Amino acid sequence: MKFGYFDDEAKEYVITTPKTPLPWINYLGSQDFFGLFSNTAGGYDFYKDAKLLRLTRYRYNNCPLDNGGRYYYIKDGDTIWNPGWQPTQTPLDSYSCRHGLGYSVITGSKNGVEAKLEAFVPVGDSCEINRITLTNDSDVTKTLDLFSMVEFCLWNAEDDSTNFQRNFSTGEVEVIGSTIYHKTEYRERRNHYAVYSVNKPIEGFDTSRDAFVGVYNGFANPEAVLEGKSRNSVAHGWALVGSHHLKVTLTPGACEDFVFVLGYCENPVDQKFEAPGIINKKPADELLAKYKTSAQVDAALDDLHNYWNKLLSTYRVDTEDERLNRLVNVWNQYQCMVTFNMSRSASYYESGMGRGMGFRDSCQDLLGFVHLIPERARERIIDIANTQFEDGSTYHQYQPLTKKGNAAIGGGFNDDPLWLIACVSAYIRETGDFSILDEKCAFDSDFSKAVPLMEHLDRSFCYTTKNRGPHKLPLIGRADWNDCLNLNCFSAEPGESFQITGPSEGPVAESVFIAGMYVKYGKEYSDLLRATGNTARADEVDMLVADMTAAIEDAGWDGEWFVRAYDANSNPVGSHVCEEGQIYIEPQGMCVMAGVGVDNGKAQKALDSVKERLDTKYGIVLLQPAYTKYHLELGEISSYPPGYKENAGIFCHNNPWIACAEAVMGHGDRAFEVFKKTCPVYLEEISEIHRTEPYVYCQMVAGCDAPSHGEGKNSWLTGTAAWTFTCISQYLLGIQPTLQGLQLNPCIPHDMKGYKLDRTYRGTTYHITFDNAAGVEKGVKSVTVDGAPIEGNILPLTDKKEVEVVVTMG
Ligand code: GLC
Ligand code: GLC
Repeated sequence: MKFGYFDDEAKEYVITTPKTPLPWINYLGSQDFFGLFSNTAGGYDFYKDAKLLRLTRYRYNNCPLDNGGRYYYIKDGDTIWNPGWQPTQTPLDSYSCRHGLGYSVITGSKNGVEAKLEAFVPVGDSCEINRITLTNDSDVTKTLDLFSMVEFCLWNAEDDSTNFQRNFSTGEVEVIGSTIYHKTEYRERRNHYAVYSVNKPIEGFDTSRDAFVGVYNGFANPEAVLEGKSRNSVAHGWALVGSHHLKVTLTPGACEDFVFVLGYCENPVDQKFEAPGIINKKPADELLAKYKTSAQVDAALDDLHNYWNKLLSTYRVDTEDERLNRLVNVWNQYQCMVTFNMSRSASYYESGMGRGMGFRDSCQDLLGFVHLIPERARERIIDIANTQFEDGSTYHQYQPLTKKGNAAIGGGFNDDPLWLIACVSAYIRETGDFSILDEKCAFDSDFSKAVPLMEHLDRSFCYTTKNRGPHKLPLIGRADWNDCLNLNCFSAEPGESFQITGPSEGPVAESVFIAGMYVKYGKEYSDLLRATGNTARADEVDMLVADMTAAIEDAGWDGEWFVRAYDANSNPVGSHVCEEGQIYIEPQGMCVMAGVGVDNGKAQKALDSVKERLDTKYGIVLLQPAYTKYHLELGEISSYPPGYKENAGIFCHNNPWIACAEAVMGHGDRAFEVFKKTCPVYLEEISEIHRTEPYVYCQMVAGCDAPSHGEGKNSWLTGTAAWTFTCISQYLLGIQPTLQGLQLNPCIPHDMKGYKLDRTYRGTTYHITFDNAAGVEKGVKSVTVDGAPIEGNILPLTDKKEVEVVVTMG
């Protein structure tokens, strides 16, 4: 069942009922200021850090779900309704929500009045704009009351939802004309406040939630709205809201719009006040002056559309499959941008208070983002490298505001260091900017110890080289990519964190997955060394990589597939000798991508085993058989009920590794089959089963051992976005940035007869036509550039702005 449809022309998903299986959200904002915006206008805003600088309050895990947002109430006689249905839930005569790139538009109508809510964050400003347009489609004059409502968060979201003994006494506001200023804690250590304003004169306002809503009412039935009269409340402590009341008279056919702005404003510390206790309003005045008129809003929306159109022009494909086109050209890249911005901080499943920026998460997010805005990727890489420790290990997370490592979690996740090589290599392959390797980066944020980024890469590589176990495989530490494989944890106390309990290092627990990474990213590291003239070190790295390959093929090979790990007793994990958890997905994908066993049949066998033992209708599960009991020696992975999360759920993040691995083997048919199974746009028709948004990937789909097989959870913030884009754009459609230039190496279904692709790369736009009249799955017979044949399949770099390329497969 569908709950909407794709409007490809507009690059929007159009939701046609407010009662989606779960809230279907969008993200507003591109750089500093962000809003989460659901299909009923739920969600919240923050500036830079979802925990520390949250503008509006949101209650997770609330009942009803998704209650709290930017709400506009229309009172038309005795009928009170919202354009997005929530929170009054008054049945609407019509409803739609269009989620587009950085904006959403909700349109609802009731009793002859249409209300359109356009919401977006303008490029370059720290505010959310809500334009409400009311149209009278009836044949009588309508006199309406319009009430706005947001609930302010007292900035620190965690404190806001726990420290009530203090917080009920700290709230402060100022109100001048149509503008409400939220200034809690400004009197002391904050130099920022929030502003919520409308561009027209108001009848009244409220800032106290108790006054506006009533102590025992809710957002569904605020007393002020029921009565049609604001209380003009000025809040002192308790809970703060921002609400405006406007009166609107519309003759038949008439329409009027209102521009509401919710913004973040900051003052220099010595200019905080304009009079004792009175905040300096200059930054707010400047911001509001930019969005006073509808024409200004139109211009800002145009800027936003242009911003996205330009970004998405970097990679555009035209195939016969419209679903593939919309995924690649719009939604997958959009999700890559969102994951780059948010890491794993704020979604409808991540509270914005927990994890900051994950080290491995952010490194992988870069793989799908670097082609969009390379300058921001460069900055991010340097931020990440600055948190590395001198021995090459890393913090598992860092904080977005301070950019320092998160000491509460610490380090010891032994895959983390190698991901740094992955993202630096991707950055240079995209841009050719080798100068990044000379950037001086700190250790543990101590800049007195800064060394060139190239040295950081070496520390990453050496860390794994040095920390190996009895089978010469890398020690796993607290966990590897699989955060729940905690082989040194041995937690028997409920409530203990699997991530930080037990020694961070055990002497023997090893990871075959990290070994695969070492081979893959060791080779990429060696390429960088060679390209910068350090042949001696490159030769050493190649030898070490060969040693690791041998260790994988020896102790890491189970006979039909790659072993997953060795536990703290040196027993294999993910082997036929295990009772449960005999085969895992991760090493099969990573080792084959790294080229291990490709020439001797092991890679093929491993992929056959995946197909035979792990594949399901909705994707490849993480392991089989699922763990049915808690294994002290394995940790969190066995804590989940069978079929969920890392315990045999379908982790969308590592499904593309298998599709990439199939492409390495030249199997285009199978690679696409794997790719499509977890791809949301192909699942649109089963939205009642899948439940999460059909336009973005979710982290996990319930596996075949779960009663809810096929149900998605945890949408938006997942490394899946970057890996599926890497998979489809590079491994399958075959546009592979290399240090030498763009390599063309498609791997597609045999019955895909061809496609066209525009790719802007290092200043040149390549218009590429792929011809597969031969009906092969892989193989490039010839390439012509502007009509002239070239040797091989790497496009020579050129000063030309536009180049025509024809690739004949065969
Ligand atoms: C989550 C984490 C990621 C981890 C994965 C598997 O997606 O963000 O870091 O690799 O789960 O456990
Ligand atoms: C990842 C895993 C999750 C685990 C968490 C710990 O997100 O997906 O299962 O609990 O990491 O941080």
